[in-house]
Amino acid sequence: MTILLPLLLAYLLGSIPSALWVGKLFYKTDIRTQGSGNLGATNTFRTLGKKAGIAVTILDILKGTAATLIPLFIATDIHPLVFGVLAVIGHIFPVFAKFKGGKAVATSGGILIGYQWPLFIMAVAVFLIALKITKMVSLSSIILALVFIIYITIYAIFSADYLFMAVIYLLALFIIFRHRANISRIRAGTEPKISWM
Ligand code: G3P
Repeated sequence: MTILLPLLLAYLLGSIPSALWVGKLFYKTDIRTQGSGNLGATNTFRTLGKKAGIAVTILDILKGTAATLIPLFIATDIHPLVFGVLAVIGHIFPVFAKFKGGKAVATSGGILIGYQWPLFIMAVAVFLIALKITKMVSLSSIILALVFIIYITIYAIFSADYLFMAVIYLLALFIIFRHRANISRIRAGTEPKISWM
């Protein structure tokens, strides 16, 4: 049981539905009924504006980072990345929001900060370049996932960190799978584009 407690903690951390709670607490708005309906930072920016969007981005990132750092505070033999993945699973299927959560991007980024922070900087750079070109947050998230699959495959050949490689594959799969509706809209030419970049 004690082995399970830190794992449960990681899932519960990831389950905190920042977008839902920020919307309800400060804007009296349930963002599940607005925009794309997604409980994520993009829909928060779209629906509630810059301040709320930045707050949710930071909170969602921190969930992944905090979970990955759990082994620093609780003695355990379990690898930090396992906690990070559980936080992402919590973010996608949050117990506090009827198991309907976000699309895994920000919380996955948080794992990078906790495990290999320079990779987070690389992820932000790749994401921003993709966003500048495509103007679509969803497509940029998918491109980011694909770039990381390629990067980690090459990296694993030299580092032999196959667990990290497996985790990145899994996170990329989560991200792509959670963007199914966006992919249909991109193909139909109806996916919203940002105007500020
Ligand atoms: O991280 C989520 C983003 O890529 C797409 O969000 O609300 O446009 O479906 P949304």
